Parts: sequence; structure tokens; C-alpha cells
Amino acid sequence: MNRKYRNTIIAANLKMNMLPSDIKPYAEALKPAAASHGKRCGIVVCPSFLLVPQAIKSFRDSRISVGAQNINQYESGAYTGEVSAPQLADLGVRYVIIGHSERRTLFGETDEAVNAKVHAALAANLRPIVCVGETLTQREMGVTGDVITLQVKSALAGVPAAKMRRIVIAYEPVWAIGTGLAATDEDAATVCREIRTLVRGLYGARIARAVSILYGGSMNEHNARGLLSQPDIDGGLIGSASLSPEALSAIIEIASHDYL
Ligand code: 13P
Repeated sequence: MNRKYRNTIIAANLKMNMLPSDIKPYAEALKPAAASHGKRCGIVVCPSFLLVPQAIKSFRDSRISVGAQNINQYESGAYTGEVSAPQLADLGVRYVIIGHSERRTLFGETDEAVNAKVHAALAANLRPIVCVGETLTQREMGVTGDVITLQVKSALAGVPAAKMRRIVIAYEPVWAIGTGLAATDEDAATVCREIRTLVRGLYGARIARAVSILYGGSMNEHNARGLLSQPDIDGGLIGSASLSPEALSAIIEIASHDYL
């Protein structure tokens, strides 16, 4: 990370876990770490939609922001079962994960849909956490760079430079998600550096220097230090480990150190 130019962010993706009644004790357990380190490290908790109102309530008096895990690309209308960006923003949600690999692979989300959702989030003043990442087959075929380039370029299509400081990019190699097998520090660092170079080509050096790029995929309190000490990795998007407030607190503590 490089705190001089960009914000450090630790984001918890709780996925489809926890009950509404679990959120309050989870928040209480997380607040001490946020109180100690929240100035140096942005903290975002992204629960299922149904848990969002309780999360907003429980984190209100803390430095922790609430995010969602998905949105529909339309503002309102006849889209049964969907949730819009303005609805979330009205509740006090600040971030939204967009294009997570589980949405791309399990729910058929295309690059075009990801791009439409990025625009919908920005229009509602939500900060998109845009996920990109290659599958194991793609890595083995040596096309990681091409896959990431296509995903980043399509996700950002039509996003003006002025809005880029609201965007967070998360590099999540699909093979590292939920497998316990995180990318090596070097592999994660290489792709995150390539993403920054790509943003530089699209938006120029100043914006590229300021964009926060997170790593996600089996990040935990044991491997966080190595990953977060890479210059182009500005934080983490944490799945399994974030279900434990103790583990997440330990990662927040690690992320609040200075490595460079
Ligand atoms: P895990 O930390 O469980 O690998 O999940 C990462 C992830 O998908 C975060 O969005």
C-alpha cells in the first residue's frame, strides 16, 4: 500500500451468511478495532440486503461504512425481486460490490451488466467496488492479463475521470476465492500493478496513483501482512475470514501499519 497517495480499505464481503440478529453482536465485536484504526484504514462491511438496515443501525456510531453486495442496474420499475442503488443509498449505504465472480459465474452477470451497474451506483452516489479476476484455466493458459484488461476496460467504459476517485477496484482471482489458497504476494502484486498501469493508460498518472486497488481471495490474518505490504495493494476484500470479527479486526490492525 501507499498511504501517501491513496486510501487503505478493508472490506468484508459477508456473502449469504449471518442472520439479521447476528449483526448487532458482530458490530459490537468489530467496533474496538474500528475505533483504534478507523482513521488510517477505511472499513466497509457488506452484508446481504436483508441485513443492511440492521447494519446501518448497528454501525451508525462507528467509523465503519456499510456496503451492499450487488445492485440492479435500473433506478426503479418492474424488476421483481431486485434492489436498486437509490434504495440502498437512501438507507445510508455507501459502497456496493459490483461484478463479484460469484455473480458473474453463478448468476450470468456479463461485462455489460457490470458496466451498467457501475454507472447506476455512481448515479446514486454509491462507491462501486468493482471485482475482476481470472479463473484457474485462464491463468494456466497465460491469459490473465488479457482477461483483467477486458474486465477493467468494460467495467469502466464511459466512466468520466471526475468519477474515478469514487471507484475502488478489487482483484479477486477466481481460483483463490473460498479455496484457502491465496495468490502469492508476488502474483497478487503483479496483477494489481498491471491494473494500475491500465488505469494510467485510460485516465492518466494522477488518477492511477490515487485509485485504491484491493486484493481478495482467501485473505486472512496470517497472510494479510505480506499482501498488504505490496506497493500496489491498498487493502483487502475479505470473505470467509470476515465472518469472524476477531480475524477481521486483526486484518484491520495489520492494514493500519505503514509498510512503505
Ligand atoms: P474468501 O476470502 O472466502 O476467499 O472470499 C473472497 C471474496 O470472494 C471476497 O469478495
